[in-house]
Amino acid sequence: MKVLGIETSCDETGVAVVEDGSKVLSNVLSSQHEIHARFGGVVPELASRAHVERLNPLLDVALAEAGMRWSDVEAVAVTRGPGLVGALLVGLATAKAIALALDVPLVAVNHLEGHIYANFLEQGPPEPPYVALIVSGGHTLLVYMPEEQRYEVLGQTVDDAAGEAFDKVARFLGLGFPGGPELDRLAREGDPAAVRFPRAMAGSGDYDFSLSGLKTAVVRHVRKEEREGKKTSVPDIAASFQEAVVDVQIQKTMAAAEEKGATSVLLGGGVVANSRLRQRMAEEAERRGLRLLFPSAELCTDNGAMIASVGYFRLIRGERSSFDVGADPGLPLS
Ligand code: KG4
Ligand code: ZN
Repeated sequence: MKVLGIETSCDETGVAVVEDGSKVLSNVLSSQHEIHARFGGVVPELASRAHVERLNPLLDVALAEAGMRWSDVEAVAVTRGPGLVGALLVGLATAKAIALALDVPLVAVNHLEGHIYANFLEQGPPEPPYVALIVSGGHTLLVYMPEEQRYEVLGQTVDDAAGEAFDKVARFLGLGFPGGPELDRLAREGDPAAVRFPRAMAGSGDYDFSLSGLKTAVVRHVRKEEREGKKTSVPDIAASFQEAVVDVQIQKTMAAAEEKGATSVLLGGGVVANSRLRQRMAEEAERRGLRLLFPSAELCTDNGAMIASVGYFRLIRGERSSFDVGADPGLPLS
């Protein structure tokens, strides 16, 4: 089954065609980073307008790259939430129009589930039970999956999301927006042990995360060094900050896998593009004999293929969305 996937929850317009939930026939993206960069964050109204302008041309590109005509589309999957409501509505309205015109099923899906299913695009689903860590610009979530499509949220951030923390610290260090990728690059030249930043909630005994204190600690440290006339090494700060984030994520994810008896760990979301997180998670999973899955870097960040994949797995279980399905900015994972 060839499913068209549409993703417009935030600042990337994504369209893809995926066959049988895992074979990517096309996956095209139009990023709005250049629009939002000068504001230092995503401006919702500008995001919606850009989706309106870009979605239709992108649909043509996605079909052409897949070597398909409209009549070859067998179902339409679209992100329903969580995300920016105006941005979500652009994708939803477009998906409904296509499904109606082609007389094919519509399935409106959860963006976070998409980040998990990005793992199945290249390698297909492993045997459950899994523990999944979703770390993106808007979310930090640790989830237990006793079986496919069943979610038990174990913990989440009590303040900033992981990507948000990366972006805020990167902005403070003068690295542009979104700063996560640049911070990652710079950290490779730095010493992760240069500064011992706090590992908030590492020993809290639960699966919640807190990152705003770490961000403040970075600011305090840099200001103190400035006052003392020391020259701050930006790569050292970046590497030390990154290490603190990664340490806590590894500790909580592994503790959850152990407690739940999970055999596989899945990672998803934009922050999983982080090279240090990938490397250290891989080492830790190997040490513990766990199977670790993470998508290729371009499938970690928002894209239409992950939405088409979730859509397929829901469709084959008989799920359909009606044409009055609405956008849900706070849609929980369930
Ligand atoms: O999943 P995503 O594309 O969008 C949301 O659903 O939020 O995640 C975007 C986030 C941004 O905060 C970005 O800075 C972060 O992922 N990110 C990274 C890296 N690549 C993207 N953070 C750290 N290291 C990276 N290499
Ligand atoms: Zn996302």
